[in-house]
Amino acid sequence: MRYLVSANWKMNKTVAESLEYLEIFLPKVEDITAVDIMIAPSFTALASASLKLEHSHVYLGAQNMYYMDKGAFTGEISPLMLTELDVDYVILGHSERRHLFCEKDDLINKKMISAVEHGIRPILCVGETLEERELGKTLNVVEKQIRTAVAGIEKDMIYIDIAYEPVWAIGTGVNATPKQAQEVHRFIRELISDISKGNDEKTRILYGGSVNDKNASELIKEPDINGFLVGTASLDPDKFFNIISHVIEA
Ligand code: PGA
Repeated sequence: MRYLVSANWKMNKTVAESLEYLEIFLPKVEDITAVDIMIAPSFTALASASLKLEHSHVYLGAQNMYYMDKGAFTGEISPLMLTELDVDYVILGHSERRHLFCEKDDLINKKMISAVEHGIRPILCVGETLEERELGKTLNVVEKQIRTAVAGIEKDMIYIDIAYEPVWAIGTGVNATPKQAQEVHRFIRELISDISKGNDEKTRILYGGSVNDKNASELIKEPDINGFLVGTASLDPDKFFNIISHVIEA
């Protein structure tokens, strides 16, 4: 399985800043073919980033998407608008979308179906809050999030990646320990293998939540961690490159 290292820039970087970053970053990864690399800039930077990535093997991602092709949905972005820009991936169900913007499992399910239908590879984010972890509910929460998100497209698991991102680890500087992450990743692997009837051999299970160039090498040694979804540390091209290097070394 090819591992995937992905950058989620969130609401950071203007168009000019995004291009400046790519100017520094792309030459560094020019010869890297051992892993897949993806960058998800802001929506306003997608078109320029797409042009910049045209002759590069770095994949382009969007941070969100609505499920309808077009219509009266003020402020939303459709899958057709993304495929027009050669967007390869879309991050769906991110905890910030769930918690700050009240996205529910059934909406995420519609987006997942639409992304797969349009050939945009979703990275489905799942993860428990601190309270849920302390109550021993982690695996139940993750199972419910995954089952509802892929309802109706279980057989298409091969076209989907999953990011386990414990809410308490996102943007806090406190990452899950390799052992904590591995336990959940193992559970997710068994779950998706079961619900897809083994059609999950291309599905990467990424870890996300305060990944940096210090903790990446230990985390990636775990057998069921197949890459990362990186927020804060991906904003710096050197740090993001170092994380990619750790994944290649593993
Ligand atoms: P972080 O964000 O690396 O800043 O914790 C990860 C994410 O939200 O995808």
